[in-house]
Amino acid sequence: MAEIKKANGITDWLDQRIGLKKLIEVLMTKYWIPKNINFLWAMGVVLLALFALLFISGIFLLMYYKPDAKLAFDSVNYTIMQEVAYGWLWRHIHAVAASMVFVIIYIHMFVAIYYGSYKRGREMIWISGMLLFVVFSAEAFSGYMLPWGQMSYWAAAVITNLFGGIPFIGADVVEWVRGNYVVADSTLTRFFMLHVCLLPVVILSLIAFHFYSLRIPHVNNQEGEVLDFEKEEKKYLEGKKKDSKVIPFWPVFLSKDIFVLSVFMIFFFYLVCYHYDFAMDPINFEPANNLKTPTHIYPEWYFLWSYEVLRGFFFSADLGLIAFGIAQVIFFVLPWLDRSSVVAPAHRRKGFFIWFWLLIIDMVVLTIFGKLPPEGINTYIGFVASIGFLVLMFIVLPLITKTENKGGAK
Ligand code: HEM
Repeated sequence: MAEIKKANGITDWLDQRIGLKKLIEVLMTKYWIPKNINFLWAMGVVLLALFALLFISGIFLLMYYKPDAKLAFDSVNYTIMQEVAYGWLWRHIHAVAASMVFVIIYIHMFVAIYYGSYKRGREMIWISGMLLFVVFSAEAFSGYMLPWGQMSYWAAAVITNLFGGIPFIGADVVEWVRGNYVVADSTLTRFFMLHVCLLPVVILSLIAFHFYSLRIPHVNNQEGEVLDFEKEEKKYLEGKKKDSKVIPFWPVFLSKDIFVLSVFMIFFFYLVCYHYDFAMDPINFEPANNLKTPTHIYPEWYFLWSYEVLRGFFFSADLGLIAFGIAQVIFFVLPWLDRSSVVAPAHRRKGFFIWFWLLIIDMVVLTIFGKLPPEGINTYIGFVASIGFLVLMFIVLPLITKTENKGGAK
């Protein structure tokens, strides 16, 4: 009895200070989810699990990693990979999770685009998601530098050099970012700080903001139907569970999420144990050498499409840089480039459906050609695909969605 009293006391104490009971109540019993959503809506939870895995494996790697240009490569490739018990496992988990996070982020983003989940009151969810995408990109880029291999070094040289395109202050910004005239030890230590300290804190805050912004409009559903959550909740609680269009988050919906997550984890650990190389470039197993430029420099697969937009304008570095800058931020304004108020799956919006698949094909082409050397026909295909991307976003999308109206979706 005394124990129960004590527990109540602590809960009450926390409740008075941070509204704990209310938070638990909101999460576990007061949060309702539309019934009509498929496994693609579990991607957010998969992302959360991947972030947790990155965080935990990162802490273990941090115990042996040395952020020093002379020691970094060996601390990863010898100490962690060969000398420390299970060091290889933590590194594989970290590297595979870093790549998988982008697979799932792209799926999560394109599911939101397909079902129109970025509009009608959900703009803030979209913007917070895009902020997560950008900060995750910075996190991945800074992490890729840490093993101080050939590709870490040269990708850092190419990407930091892009800041040189900023009018007037470009050269100073490059020097400031690198902490030196060239990529060097000072560059490694500042990117190390970003990777293990500043960016994880920003990501955690953004995830909290993303979830907070989901509270009011609730998640969308497969039909884009506007639901009266209070009415549907009442039906459910009165026992008319079949009639109700919603289910409680806890424990009903969460069990669905956990099922999808479990299937994903089987696949994830299969990759970790048997196909770890999919997340790593063989050139990065050579130590960084500032006197030996690799014949062909390219970023990780998830940056290839925007990298190809940069290279696509092969006749003008300035135009390439402007197009690249636009490609980085264009998805932020998607809710406003889409001029239609219709929220429905793309297969019920004819023009939008064609636009959606053309965009996917274009981004796949950009990704493929981003990895190939920019020679001969490749340069022209890259150019056409880059122009195609900008035209699809700036001209085709506003035009086709402007003609759509409420009755437009079939
Ligand atoms: C670590 C990164 C992220 C985490 C942990 C996360 C988590 C979640 C979760 C748990 C949900 C609710 C369930 C679901 O639809 O999956 C959600 C919804 C959503 N997220 Fe994310 N997300 C992340 C990144 C992003 C990104 C990059 C975007 C796009 C720019 C985005 C856009 C959205 C949208 C629009 C919804 C609402 C979906 C709907 O209403 O159906 N999120 N997110």
